[in-house]
Amino acid sequence: MRINRPKVNIFILVDVLLAVAPCIAGQDTPALKDVFEDHFLIGGALNRWLVSGRNPGAVAIAQKHFNTATAENEMKWQSLNSWPNQYNWQAADSFVDFCGKNKMAPIGHCLVWHSQVPRWLFRDDSGNAITRDALLARMKDHITTVVGRYKGRVKGWDVVNEALNENGTLRNSQWLQIIGEGSEDKKYDFIENAFRWAHEVDPNTELYYNDYSLESSKAKTDGAVAIVKHLKSKGLRIDAVGIQLHGSLTHPSPEGLEYAITSLADAGVKVMVTELDIRTRTRGYRGADIGRINRRSTSDQNATTPEIQKKLADKYAEIFSVLVKHKEYITRVTFWGVYDGASWIGGSPLLFDRSYQPKEAFFAVVKTAQESQ
Ligand code: XIL
Repeated sequence: MRINRPKVNIFILVDVLLAVAPCIAGQDTPALKDVFEDHFLIGGALNRWLVSGRNPGAVAIAQKHFNTATAENEMKWQSLNSWPNQYNWQAADSFVDFCGKNKMAPIGHCLVWHSQVPRWLFRDDSGNAITRDALLARMKDHITTVVGRYKGRVKGWDVVNEALNENGTLRNSQWLQIIGEGSEDKKYDFIENAFRWAHEVDPNTELYYNDYSLESSKAKTDGAVAIVKHLKSKGLRIDAVGIQLHGSLTHPSPEGLEYAITSLADAGVKVMVTELDIRTRTRGYRGADIGRINRRSTSDQNATTPEIQKKLADKYAEIFSVLVKHKEYITRVTFWGVYDGASWIGGSPLLFDRSYQPKEAFFAVVKTAQESQ
């Protein structure tokens, strides 16, 4: 008796194998920039290690998923201008070139900030605090030089970073102390002039105010709204406010995030999420002051367990559900890093693991876009 063997069509077999191969390599996943094409730009903070091609796994993730990128450290005052009158452009130029080659809109981060600034900036040759006029002159010179160099190439600048306290008052930074001179009338002067000069140098680049904890402190959001209103009252341009969103498994609440988005939108600016990551450790300091955060303070030895990764996925899904709901106001969502292996806070706070594979959180985020269609 003749047994009928099922016929195997070699062409179908090859097709099936070709479809399975990339799946095994984790490459069948959709690209985030396509998934969120109708919502907002998607990006990540890139470090110089990635930009110089020394981390091909991270480069592949960025190329596939991002249509915008922020320099993690390379455009900060300390990196560009660590000595008076001397600029080192190499790393920042490489970042902007990398973005150009890979079709990612580059974001400049940041012009005026109290952290990662050189020691000489606020001092004269004898080590004494410089005057208001001298500091304004240094600030103008820096903004003119840096914004001028990348004119027409950078999509937007974080003009002022982290000027607020948690209660919404202005942080008592050297910028406020020296330029504000303790006077209520002059308190916004450093912010105002930074936006004025950035606009004068490049009227076509977008100008942003950027800060952390806006999503969890209503008072801080109100402080950011006050900055926006002040700038507008002076006839100055501010295009958007960046909510950094360094979150955790327990914050922000959807209500807190929604309050920040809608309050800022009502003040007449676009909103961006500029430094998204979610630490899994729930104890301890919540904010993102770089003086108080290091990998030891945020890392969590259980971060990669399935239980914690499920909670991470749920938190990401909750945040993205709010973001897609308010897509009319939101122009960009940028992760602070590309994959867990290169995150500034350690642990497992991003969408891709240390082997460059998409995590449960990645698929949870993708689902929020599909559900919003
Ligand atoms: C962080 C970088 O990720 C670290 O590599 C660096 O050592 C310290 O700064 N808010 C900001 C970012 O605006 O510039 C900070 O970036 C994270 C908090």
